Amino acid sequence: MKKILAFSGSNSPDSINEKLIHSVINRYPNYDIRFIDLKKFEAPMYSPLIQAKGIPKSIQDLYSIFQESEGFVIASPEHNGLPSAFLKNTLDWLSVITQRFFEEKPVLLLSTSPGATGARTHLLQLAKLIPLWGGLLKATYSLGDFDRTFNIDKGVIKDSLELQHLDKAFLAFVDSKVAPKKTNVEVVQAYFNAFQQGDLEAVLNVFHPDCYIVSVKEEERPAEQLHGIYRTKKEAQQFLNNIVTLFETKEFIVENVMEAADNLVVAKGSFSHLVRSSGKLFNSNWVQLCVIEDEMIKEYRFYEDSAALIEASTTEYV
Ligand SMILES: Cc1cc2nc3c(=O)[nH]c(=O)nc-3n(C[C@H](O)[C@H](O)[C@H](O)COP(=O)(O)O)c2cc1C
Repeated sequence: MKKILAFSGSNSPDSINEKLIHSVINRYPNYDIRFIDLKKFEAPMYSPLIQAKGIPKSIQDLYSIFQESEGFVIASPEHNGLPSAFLKNTLDWLSVITQRFFEEKPVLLLSTSPGATGARTHLLQLAKLIPLWGGLLKATYSLGDFDRTFNIDKGVIKDSLELQHLDKAFLAFVDSKVAPKKTNVEVVQAYFNAFQQGDLEAVLNVFHPDCYIVSVKEEERPAEQLHGIYRTKKEAQQFLNNIVTLFETKEFIVENVMEAADNLVVAKGSFSHLVRSSGKLFNSNWVQLCVIEDEMIKEYRFYEDSAALIEASTTEYV
C-alpha cells in the first residue's frame, strides 16, 4: 500500500483521537501514512438544497484525496454511542458523490475516549457502515482510559498490552498484499534494475510527474540533444528516447548506491555504450545524484565523461 490516509473524525482542536492517529503514524514509519485534518474540509450540514447547487469544493477536494489513497486509518470519537455528527456529515457528503467512496480499499477503525470502553460502542455502528461505503474493514482497535493509558507529552500509548493489540490490528490492516514504503535507496535501485532490464516504462514510472533532470549540462537543449535539462515526466520520456536513439548499451555497471543526506541518493558506476552514428564505443565512469520525493525521483543529475562522448561520436572517413 503506497499511501495510507489517516484522519480523526473529531472537529475538536485538542482531539484525543487525533493524538491517537499521530501516535500510529509515528509507530509505523515504514508505511507511507499521511495525516489530513478533516476540519480543513469542513462542509455545511448536508442538505439536498445545497447539493442541488453543487457539491462543496472542500468535499470534492477530499474525494480526490480519497481516490489517490490506497487505505484509510480513521480514529473516530463517540458522541452518545454514535460517530460524531462532524464525521458523519463529512462522510454523508462523500456518499452523494458516490455511495462506495472507499472504493474497495482497506480500512482500519480506531477510537479512544476518557471512558473505560474507549468509545468501542460506536465503532460497532461505524463498522457496519464501512462496507456500505465500499470499504474493506480489516480491524478495529479502541484505547480506553485515554488519560491514564496515553502519554500526552511523548505522544505514545503507555501500556505495552495496548500496544500489542494495536500492532495486531495494524498488521491485519496492512495484510500480505500491502508493501511497506520503499526506502530512498530502494527507489533508485528499482530505477537501475528497470534500466538494466531495458524496461523503459518501469524506468519512466520511477520519475516524479514534476521531475527535473540534468543530463551532464544544466542548460536548455534542442529536443533531440542528450545533454541538458529535461522537465516533467513527459520530458523524462524524451530523455530515455534520446539515450536509446543515440546508444546501444553494452554494459551498465552500478557500483554503489547510498543515501548521502535526507532524500539525497548518490550512485556511481561505469558504462559502455555503442554510439550508433559512429559505431565507436563510449566508455565512461558516471555519478548520479537523485532527490527522492513520494518514492519517486524528483530531481536527477547524471554526470559522465562528455569529452569521451565527443571522441566516440566523431566519424572517421578514409
Ligand atoms: C456530546 C458528547 C457525547 C459524548 N458521548 C460519549 C459516549 O457516548 N461515549 C464515550 O466514550 N465518550 C463520549 N463523550 C466523550 C468523548 O469521548 C470525549 O469528549 C473525547 O475527547 C472525544 O474525542 P475527541 O477529543 O477526539 O473529540 C461524549 C462527548 C460529548 C461532547
